[in-house]
Order: sequence, then structure tokens, then C-alpha cells
Amino acid sequence: MVKKVRKAVFPAAGLGTRFLPATKASPKEMLPIVDKPMIQYAVEEAEACNIKEFIMITGKSKRAIEDHFDYAWELEETLKSKGKKTMLKEIQRLAEHQFAYIRQGAPLGLGHAILCSKPFVKDEPFAVILSDDIIDPDDNLLGEMIKIYNKYKATVLALQRVPKEEIHRYGVIAGKEVKKNVYKISDMVEKPTSSAAPSDLAIIGRYILTPDIFNFIEKTSPGKGGEIQLTDALKALLKRKPVYGYLFEGRRYDGGDKIGYLKATVELAMKNPALRDEFKEYLFSRILSLSNKEQ
Ligand code: G1P
Repeated sequence: MVKKVRKAVFPAAGLGTRFLPATKASPKEMLPIVDKPMIQYAVEEAEACNIKEFIMITGKSKRAIEDHFDYAWELEETLKSKGKKTMLKEIQRLAEHQFAYIRQGAPLGLGHAILCSKPFVKDEPFAVILSDDIIDPDDNLLGEMIKIYNKYKATVLALQRVPKEEIHRYGVIAGKEVKKNVYKISDMVEKPTSSAAPSDLAIIGRYILTPDIFNFIEKTSPGKGGEIQLTDALKALLKRKPVYGYLFEGRRYDGGDKIGYLKATVELAMKNPALRDEFKEYLFSRILSLSNKEQ
């Protein structure tokens, strides 16, 4: 019987240099989008797919992540005494899951970060969620990937078509569509130049991996940027076992980039019933005043 995906790994050891000085002393994963830190959106995405164990790969100055997903007695008592029941429930819910924290120690790459999770993942399939890639919660990317995993019992990567000028920022695949939006992958390359890219299909930050990836990562030498790349380990894996890609056509925002972060903030604020109307009104008036100035 195929094992269920019950665990998720969240690589969160990066330095977040693109967001300095905001990320000097606090983790980029804790940057808020509307009223939740980015990492909470990622955790909720896994939660919605019935994932029960959350494995965070952290590093120096990442303590705030642990505190965020922990009980907070003082705060809970204060909320209780003030009768703020809804917020109390929300705060307590975050700490109810099983979290494990592993320090990566040195920034040796995404492949190495995943390898650090081996003692906790053990022999089960698992999801990898890069919290920088913010996926609209209504578009259920991870849920679709788990369905494909259950069908093929093989590794599944999330893909999106990316314009030529941006392709050098991603792992890029070559493959054949075997079913609508499902690709059997034949090759992949980490951050190619646009002329060397095998297609416009970029790997985005969601993976369903099988535990055999650990053996391949262990044998992977440093690649692009001198780091141990997950893409290189997956490329070695696909010579032995099938690897599939799911072409996601929903909404994704690159939260590691300032413009992507601002877009995610606007879009998620527009989804918030308590903010939507007033915020929309503000945006309309702002755009109107901008276009009047341009004329
Ligand atoms: C990582 C992966 C890359 C993938 C990207 C998706 O790169 O190495 O293959 O396309 O995530 O966000 P990073 O953005 O960490 O440099």
C-alpha cells in the first residue's frame, strides 16, 4: 500500500539578504503578509492537506519561528481575561501540531537542507514547502500534487511557465506531457542561462519527495553557487525512477522578491473580509489619482 504524505519539511535557514535590513535580526519567514508571517501560510497549506508533522530546517537568528508555533502562556492568559476568544483559539491552534526543528549549521544549499530532515522523515514520502513561494490557498497546489503522488507513487514537482528573462532564477525541466498538466520529466538543470534552458517550465517551491532522495543527495557534489542542489539530486534520481511535474496554473507570488511580496500583500488583503471593502476603495482612489497625474 502506498504510504500517505503526513510530513512536511520547511527549509528556513536562508539569510534573506534580499530583504535587508528587515531581516538583519529576524527571519525572513516571519515577515508578515497582512496579519500572518509568511511561514504560517506555508504551514496552513500543509495543514489543509492533512499533514500532521512539520519539520523546520532553521539556522542562526531563527528563534522567532519556534516561538511563533509554540504555546504563549502569558499572552493566552491575557486574551482569556479580556474575553478575546477567537484570537485565543487562533493562537492556541498554531501550537497544537507536532513541530521539529533542525539546525542546518552551514548554508550548504537546498539539497543539504533537505538531507538534514532525514532522521525525522525516516522512510515516508514527504512534502517540501519553500515558504517564499506564496500560493493562493484557494488554488490547492499541494492537494493536487498529493493526488498525483498517490496515483503514480513517485516524486512530484510543482512547475510553472516562466518568462525567458526570469528562467535563470529557477530549476528548469525537460519533459513530456502525459496527462493534462502532468509531465514525465526527462531532464532538469539548476538555474540555466535562458539560452541553455531546456524549456520554460520552472520548478516552483513545492515538492512531494520519496525517502530514496536522501541517498541521491548524499552522493551529490556541490553544484550551482557551490551549493548542494536538490535539482542535481533529482536529476540523478530520474535516471532510476520516474519523476513527475505538475503544471500549476493558479496564483503564486514570489515572497522572496520585493515586488512579489507587495503583490501577495495586496492580493491576500483583498481576500480578507474585514479589510476588503475599505482597502479596495483606497486602491481605486490611489490609482485614480495616479492616472489623473499622468494625463
Ligand atoms: C530553489 C531551487 C530551484 C527552484 C526554486 C523555486 O532555488 O533550487 O530549483 O526553482 O527554489 O523557488 P532558490 O530560490 O532557493 O535559489
